[in-house]
Amino acid sequence: MTRIVMSGAGNMGRQIMAAVEAADDLELVGALDGLSGAGSVEIAGRQIPLGNSLDSLREWSPDVVIDFSNAEWTVRLIPAAVEAGVRPVIGTSGLSDEVIADAERRVNEAGLGGVIAANFALGAVLMMHLANVAAPLFDSVEIIEQHHDGKVDAPSGTAVATAQSMRAARGQDFTRREAERHNVEGFDSRGAELGGASLHSVRLPGLVAHQVIVFGGNDETLTIRHDSMSRASFIPEILRAVRAAPELDRLVIGLDRLLGLRTD
Ligand SMILES: NC(=O)c1ccc[n+]([C@@H]2O[C@H](COP(=O)([O-])OP(=O)(O)OC[C@H]3O[C@@H](n4cnc5c(N)ncnc54)[C@H](O)[C@@H]3O)[C@@H](O)[C@H]2O)c1
Repeated sequence: MTRIVMSGAGNMGRQIMAAVEAADDLELVGALDGLSGAGSVEIAGRQIPLGNSLDSLREWSPDVVIDFSNAEWTVRLIPAAVEAGVRPVIGTSGLSDEVIADAERRVNEAGLGGVIAANFALGAVLMMHLANVAAPLFDSVEIIEQHHDGKVDAPSGTAVATAQSMRAARGQDFTRREAERHNVEGFDSRGAELGGASLHSVRLPGLVAHQVIVFGGNDETLTIRHDSMSRASFIPEILRAVRAAPELDRLVIGLDRLLGLRTD
């Protein structure tokens, strides 16, 4: 049995806890949430101890802590987890490169294993992998990302990461046609530009998280599309990371590396 603590008892945390509760090989021993009062949280009809202090990590001594919370909390959680000999599986967004490098150093020096992934959706990670295969072979590309109207930022982090990794895979900017005339004054409908890729953002009620990558070639186009229907799409790969963590002896950064799609 692998003993699990969930860090972050929000929307993701509750879904992950329900999945851990349902797994025969995983035991949920507690939930940590820096903004909640201590007590308990009901998951699948069972009361799970809820703490708001990092000291609970030593008290509960889990094998793995899963973190889907907030970057401010995660930067404190990582050193506390490593000091307590607990393996981190981190999905919280907005961690800087410095924080990730520091986590890698701490986890590796302690001889522990763990996983940090900005995106745990299998299809999204494969979409980016396939886009990187196509990027050196097509000269033009546009990304259309579509999200629910509650999303506050644009373009999405995934769209930006896709454009950056395609640019890196290609080694040079894509060819992009600028508009010569803008028919709606003050707006450039050709979208944002990153490495020669155009990025377009759609925000509508009814959407969840979707991305279309269209490559343009000689009398042909190639379209790669990913649709995430709900937060449930993240769960299988989060559980894969949790099950892998006790076997790892270093911090694996990115689901693509965990899946063996990337070997650097
Ligand atoms: N890697 C992925 O594939 C993936 C997928 C979905 C969500 N996420 C990320 O996971 C995180 C959580 O997402 P969510 O939808 O559950 O959000 P949420 O807002 O529902 O939950 C966040 C939880 O973190 C806690 N929290 C917030 N700020 C805090 C702070 N300063 N200190 C301590 N605790 C704090 C809140 O109390 C809450 O319980 C976000 O960063 C989100 O972007 C990542």
